[in-house]
Amino acid sequence: AWIKMEKWPEIEKAATEKRRELVLQGPGVDQRISRDGGLTSSVYSLTLLNYLEVSQCPSLTHIHADIQQLSSLQSLILCRNKLASFPGVVGRLTSLKVLDLSVNNLEVLPVEITQLKELNTLNVSCNRLEMLPDGLNQCSKLSTINISRNKITRFPTDLFSERLDLLSTLVASDNSIQELGGEVCKLPALKVLDLSNNQLREIPPDLSNCLKLKEINFKGNKLSDKRLEKMVNGCQTKSILDYLRGKGRERLAQDGGGGGDGDGGGRGADKKKRQQQQRKKKAADEQEEVEELDKMLVRVLHVSEAPTAITVKVSADVKEVRPYLVCCVVRGMKLKPGNSLKRFLMAQTKLHDDLCGKRTIATIATHDVQLVKSPLVYEVKAPSQLKIVPLGRREMTAIELIRLLHLEAQELRKQKKRQNVTGLHKYLQLLEGKSMYPCLVDTDGHVISFPPITNSEKTKIKKTTTELFLEVTSAESLQTCKDVMDALIVKMAELNKFTAEHREEAGSDGEDNGPTEPDGTTETSDNSQLIIQQVRTVDQDGNLKVVYPSKTDLIKGISNLTVIW
Ligand SMILES: *[C@@H]1O[C@H](CO)[C@@H](O)[C@H](O)[C@H]1NC(C)=O
Ligand SMILES: *[C@@H]1O[C@H](CO)[C@@H](O)[C@H](O)[C@H]1NC(C)=O
Ligand SMILES: *[C@@H]1O[C@H](CO)[C@@H](O)[C@H](O)[C@H]1NC(C)=O
Ligand SMILES: *[C@@H]1O[C@H](CO)[C@@H](O)[C@H](O)[C@H]1NC(C)=O
Repeated sequence: AWIKMEKWPEIEKAATEKRRELVLQGPGVDQRISRDGGLTSSVYSLTLLNYLEVSQCPSLTHIHADIQQLSSLQSLILCRNKLASFPGVVGRLTSLKVLDLSVNNLEVLPVEITQLKELNTLNVSCNRLEMLPDGLNQCSKLSTINISRNKITRFPTDLFSERLDLLSTLVASDNSIQELGGEVCKLPALKVLDLSNNQLREIPPDLSNCLKLKEINFKGNKLSDKRLEKMVNGCQTKSILDYLRGKGRERLAQDGGGGGDGDGGGRGADKKKRQQQQRKKKAADEQEEVEELDKMLVRVLHVSEAPTAITVKVSADVKEVRPYLVCCVVRGMKLKPGNSLKRFLMAQTKLHDDLCGKRTIATIATHDVQLVKSPLVYEVKAPSQLKIVPLGRREMTAIELIRLLHLEAQELRKQKKRQNVTGLHKYLQLLEGKSMYPCLVDTDGHVISFPPITNSEKTKIKKTTTELFLEVTSAESLQTCKDVMDALIVKMAELNKFTAEHREEAGSDGEDNGPTEPDGTTETSDNSQLIIQQVRTVDQDGNLKVVYPSKTDLIKGISNLTVIW
């Protein structure tokens, strides 16, 4: 039986008004689509249209081939329907610039979309696609591709092509992509690359050669390099690329400088490719050098490389009192010029107040390495047995010191007429009721620190200190210690950079002309670099407990700190 189609008022109107744009959307339209079994055919006679949107119509499951009549279309927006297929005639819509088929039920895309020479935006996100057609590199004006939330397992091999020299955004999050080739860097304009929530195991080091890359997202992938995995979940693009660049160099060194991708193909093409890569690498290196000037550098010396490695033995009885300890040695910290020592001590106080919760969460102690006699033992002593020369005081036992501090706190409260507990009191409370107190003891039996109360006057740092022994203790967790140590090192790197940059202003300090190289030249701009020497703590039987820093330290959200391992 022949059903008389009712007219669609929007389309009548668009026809009489010779409209170039038409939006069909929502429940009213959806009902008519449902009733008529699709879009009314009259829509395909609106040949003047350059913008057509039909969206949010769950009844729309297909588009008629007559759509090819709309040859002026520049934007075709068919998002949030239930399209299960899309006709190949789309290839005839040669003026199309924007094609949005997002949030539908598409399982394949017609290969004909590769004929859309003017296309700049392709949005097929939220469908059921398992692959993309080959030949998309013919759409040389593409600047944004969004294939997020599909079932794609791999990129078409020809997608990463120099021909797509305008492609700046590639979003492929929430798919099942298993591999990203280094060829991605053939995309000369790539700025944003989102591959979050896929099944990648590796990120190609070549990524660091994509010079325009500003934003990458690799969260939610199970990377084999766990350090990298941590970084992609916490760090900014630049740090990740720096890290990849480092990895690339290692690989290059291993390959003896060759490209060595070993993907076969013609020798000549290989050579060209290699030259091109080298050129890119050089440009990247140059750019990196410029950026490096703004960077804070920290170099880590492995325990095995360190000539005077300090070791710390942790005795079992600290478990009851203050179990966690992390140490390291820092070289290159400038404490001589101007107020640099003062600034460092102030920074330490601030860390104690903030991150360390007025020392209730963790405590930092700093020592002059020259005055520390290794091996050290972290142990407990009875309050009457623990003797120390507290900072700025004479030698006394822990009992005497605690009593003195309580008196001073009381005095302070009276002065300030405060009824409540002062900050000073708070950490004193940590020791209340303990029969043993924690302390760090040197090889001569001298206590060099009594956390969380004080460290020893004997090993305290001065303007002349060139190497620092840092110690962080906590009753909470090892990670707490590491987090505080990370923060301390970042702070030190910042201060050192500041000191290096303000050397001239600090120059009034006559004695300081800066360290001089053997050949008489003064140090170059990277003289703010810190060297962190790993320190290991072992248990009573000599079994390793902690090495700090390890490769999982010093990485959280620190974008302007470069760590060289
Ligand atoms: C792609 O489609 C999604 C879902 O409709 C939308 O949120 C996004 O803005 C679109 N992006 C582009 C570039 O059109
Ligand atoms: C890509 O599509 C996803 C899912 O529809 C959307 O959330 C995201 O905003 C889109 N991004 C771009 C750049 O189009
Ligand atoms: C003391 O108590 C007052 C009010 O109870 C509070 O505002 C103040 O922060 C407290 N001071 C300290 C050091 O805890
Ligand atoms: C490093 O970045 C932090 C914020 O992430 C900023 O506060 C600090 O000033 C920066 N330091 C330097 C030396 O650029």
